[in-house]
Amino acid sequence: MKILNRAIEVKAMIKSGDRSFQPFKGKSMAMIFAKPSMRTHVSFETGFFLLGGHAVYLGPDDIQMGKREETRDVARVLSGYNDIIMARVFAHQDILDLAKYAPVPVINGLTDYNHPCQIMADALTMLEHVGRIENTKGFEPDAKTVEIARSAGSKIEITNDPKEAVKGADVVYTDVWASMGQKEEAEYRKKVFQGFMVDEALMEMAGPKAFLMHCLPAERGVEVTDGAIEAPNSIVFPQAENRMHAQNAIMLHVLGA
Ligand code: CP
Repeated sequence: MKILNRAIEVKAMIKSGDRSFQPFKGKSMAMIFAKPSMRTHVSFETGFFLLGGHAVYLGPDDIQMGKREETRDVARVLSGYNDIIMARVFAHQDILDLAKYAPVPVINGLTDYNHPCQIMADALTMLEHVGRIENTKGFEPDAKTVEIARSAGSKIEITNDPKEAVKGADVVYTDVWASMGQKEEAEYRKKVFQGFMVDEALMEMAGPKAFLMHCLPAERGVEVTDGAIEAPNSIVFPQAENRMHAQNAIMLHVLGA
C-alpha cells in the first residue's frame, strides 16, 4: 500500500506537467529483455527518464544470458555500470540469480512464473477505478501461490464457470490464452478455453459497475472481443499507463529515493 500511495502521489506530479522531481538524476538503469515487450520497455524507460535517470535497453541478442554469459557474471558486470537492473527473462531462477549476485536492486519485468510489476499496475488501476483492491481479483493461479496468499489473509474462490465468476464482480480480468513461451500450445488452448472469451454479453452479466481489465497485448476475438475492449467500462488503457506510475514508485522504493 505504501508503494501504491507513492505511485498515486508521483503520478499526480507527472500528469500536472511538473518535472521538478528528479530523484534519479545521475542514475542509470540496465534493462535486460530476453523476450519482446512494448509496455514494459517503454514504461520503464520513460518513467526512469521522467524522474531524471538514464535507461539502457539490452535486447534478446545483446546478452543471451546463460548462453553467451553466465547470469551471475551479467549481474556483477551490469552492477558496475548501473544503479538498478530491470529484467524480463524466461526462467524465474534467472531473476533470482540476478538478485543474488547483483549488489544493486533487481526488478522483475516478467518471468515464466510471475509478472509483479503488472500486478502493481493492476492494483493501482483498481484503486483508482473501484476505490479498493480487497476482494477484486479472481483467477486460477499456481496452487503454491494461492496457498501463500491465503496464509496472508486473502480470500480466493476458484471457479471454471465464467458466468458464475463475473456475477457481482467489480473487475473482470482476462489475459492472452497463450503467453510468451506457450505459443506452440496456442491452438490447443483456443480449443480448451472455448466459452471463456470475455464479450459484451459476459460483461452485461457482471453488472453495470464492472470494469474490464487486460494487461495487453490482447488478441481481439480470442480471449476478448473488440466491443468489450472499446466499451466505456473498459479500463485497459489507464491500466497500461499505470505500468509506468506503479514502476516509478517501485524504483523510488528500491533506490530509497
Ligand atoms: N503487459 C505487458 O507486460 O506488456 P509487454 O509484453 O508489451 O511489456
